Amino acid sequence: MTSHPLIEQFTRAGQAQVFIFFNQLAPDAQRRLLAEAAEIDLAEVERLNRTLVLGRAAAGVNLDGLAPAPYEPLPEKGGRAADWAKAHATGEAALRAGRVAAFTVAGGQGTRLGYDGPKGTFRVTPVKQKPLFQVFAEKILAAGRRYGRPLHWFIMTSHQNHAATEAFLAENKYFGLDRGRVHCFRQGRMPAVGFDGKILLESASSIALSPDGHGGSLRALDRSGSLDLMQGEGIDMLSFFQVDNPLVRCIDAAFLGWHEVSGSEMTSKMVPKAYPEEKVGHFCRQDGKVVVIEYSDLPAATQRETDAGGHLRYVAGSIAIHVLDREFVRRVVRGGAEAALPFHRADKKIATIDADGNPVKPVKANGVKFEMFVFDALPFARNAIVIETARADDFSPVKNAEGADSPQTCRDDQLRQFGRWLKASGVSVATDATGLPAQAIEVSPLFGYDEDSFAESWGKLPVKPEVVEGLYLG
Ligand code: UTP
Repeated sequence: MTSHPLIEQFTRAGQAQVFIFFNQLAPDAQRRLLAEAAEIDLAEVERLNRTLVLGRAAAGVNLDGLAPAPYEPLPEKGGRAADWAKAHATGEAALRAGRVAAFTVAGGQGTRLGYDGPKGTFRVTPVKQKPLFQVFAEKILAAGRRYGRPLHWFIMTSHQNHAATEAFLAENKYFGLDRGRVHCFRQGRMPAVGFDGKILLESASSIALSPDGHGGSLRALDRSGSLDLMQGEGIDMLSFFQVDNPLVRCIDAAFLGWHEVSGSEMTSKMVPKAYPEEKVGHFCRQDGKVVVIEYSDLPAATQRETDAGGHLRYVAGSIAIHVLDREFVRRVVRGGAEAALPFHRADKKIATIDADGNPVKPVKANGVKFEMFVFDALPFARNAIVIETARADDFSPVKNAEGADSPQTCRDDQLRQFGRWLKASGVSVATDATGLPAQAIEVSPLFGYDEDSFAESWGKLPVKPEVVEGLYLG
């Protein structure tokens, strides 16, 4: 085999199979394979193999001393109204001072939805069929107008969808945002390994590489220069949300304010679980830190535990909405081993090749992908706090093609929200028992992005339109 320092390193690490077809490749395919190999941290792969793949039996989540995490309830659920008002005012001041940026993680593969293209280009709204990116862009634009400071928007993409994401945003003129304030950057990749720890090839000339999880966003923010850009612009708070959730309040003054008032480095929103064994991460407390424990790691009996009043103890479900302090991100990324986010193991069907180089499309899991999760940064954050939000106002993700968390449920939840806003402004809207309007209606975030901003715009309309099928308030 051709000698090359990288090939020698891989051979020494027991990963020579990566280059098994190397001598048969054309020079540019060889170069590509070498470039991919150079991305891989062999020591990291060796450690992950040892701890997660080969030594799996020893692994397991530590549940010692676990307790439910405290959280700030909404005012209508017993929270202190004065504290929420103070948080709101504090968040508004931060927005007026230009200290906030929006941050969308959009590097996932969206396999469950089965949509061909970046998920942010998926059309979700009930009347105009706006794509997810447009919904977020308009919410960010609306917040910039309201507070007199246009916001920066950071979007984390993957190698796979980066070019398509950038092209889509450019074609659509950034949906009205200043293009100089929209920043797309790629997340890192990790190799997939077989159950024997050997790095898998996707083809003779490429390694099976996949995005390193939404937790990879922290190092990608640093590597891409985004943290420095934020610093230069005087931005110290990142409003973090996922690309699949059009209901999210991308910019939420009270949330930002709670973060600031509490001196928190990472703040999270919770929703009360819909039922005891809902498949969400659980906000818990352990060793004085906030942690998220996945439902799959928390015994069912614990998930169902109730207190003396009959209320669920582990009630706080995570919906992947956070505020991140800029310097906290830098510290986690650069802090070395004690702040490094752990990798999680996911057993997946990984397209690969056989010993003759023929493609193999596995029908069951044939290997392991390694991913980091952003909530694993929580225990490193000082004063991390959790606040409550109403699911109906913040969370309805599009994950699956059908059934729960699908385009249909998300559309219905958007309709319910628009219906609630209209009703709160005194308009009569025909709905079913779940609050679902009979007609397809839609409110642009530029018209209203919450009940108050909606009421303001509605109040200003000289002629109030009728609620009819296809009503669009833009
Ligand atoms: P999901 O956990 O829903 O994963 O991501 P996914 O890859 O999008 O979808 P499936 O599991 O293949 O069906 C939650 C959020 O985290 C982002 C996604 O884009 C989504 O916003 N994410 C996920 C990343 O940005 N990078 C990743 O490596 C994984």
